[in-house]
Amino acid sequence: MTNTPASADYWEPLWAGGRRYRRVSSAEAELLADHLGPGRGRPALDIGTGDGALARRLHRLGYRTTGIDFAPSAVAAARRDRADDGPSWQLMDFAADDLGGLRDPAYAVVACRLVYRWLDDKPAFLDRVRRILAPGGVFWVVTEIAGRRDSGDPSRHLGITAAEAETLTARWSVVRTADLDVLRCYALHP
Ligand SMILES: C[S@@+](CC[C@H](N)C(=O)[O-])C[C@H]1O[C@@H](n2cnc3c(N)ncnc32)[C@H](O)[C@@H]1O
Repeated sequence: MTNTPASADYWEPLWAGGRRYRRVSSAEAELLADHLGPGRGRPALDIGTGDGALARRLHRLGYRTTGIDFAPSAVAAARRDRADDGPSWQLMDFAADDLGGLRDPAYAVVACRLVYRWLDDKPAFLDRVRRILAPGGVFWVVTEIAGRRDSGDPSRHLGITAAEAETLTARWSVVRTADLDVLRCYALHP
C-alpha cells in the first residue's frame, strides 16, 4: 500500500475526515466561462473532481459533465449535492485505469483543478489527457505556482516549479494563461 499524494490511500482519509480545498471563486468561474465558452451539451471531464465544485461550474456552462476521482469519499461528497440533471460521478484512477471505462470516448473539455501538482508521472498523465481530448478541445488546468507565497508560509510546497510548468505547457498549439493570486489557470489547445 502506497501513501503518496499520487495514490488514493493518501486522499481517501482526508476526504473521509471532512478536509476540503480552496473554493472556486467568482473570479475563477468567470475565467472558466471566458476561456471555455458555452458547453451546448458537449462532453466535459473533470479529473480529480473532489467534491465536484468545478464539475458543477462546467455543468452550469452547459457541458454534459462527468467528474472522476479515485477517492471513494470524494465521489460520495460530490454525489451528496444531488441535482437530478447535474454532473455524473465516477470512481476512477485516471493515471492507471482503462480509459475505455469513461462515459465518452472524447471530450470537448478536460479539466483538472489542484491536481497536477500531485501527479507522480506528469508526462504520462498528459499523454492520457491528449488521448481523450476531442479535436478543437481544451485542457483546463488550475494549479498553484511556486514562489508566490512568503518564505514562512506553511503552504509554500503547494506550487508547481518552473520545470513542471514547462512540462505542462509543452506540445500544445495554443497556451493561454490567467493569474489569480497564487493560482494560474491554463487553457491548453492541442
Ligand atoms: C487537492 S484535491 C482537489 C479537488 C478538487 N479538484 C478541487 O478543486 O477542490 C486533489 C484531488 O485529486 C484526486 N486525484 C489525484 N490523483 C488522481 C487520479 N490519478 N485519478 C483520480 N483522482 C485523482 C484526489 O483524490 C483529490 O480528490
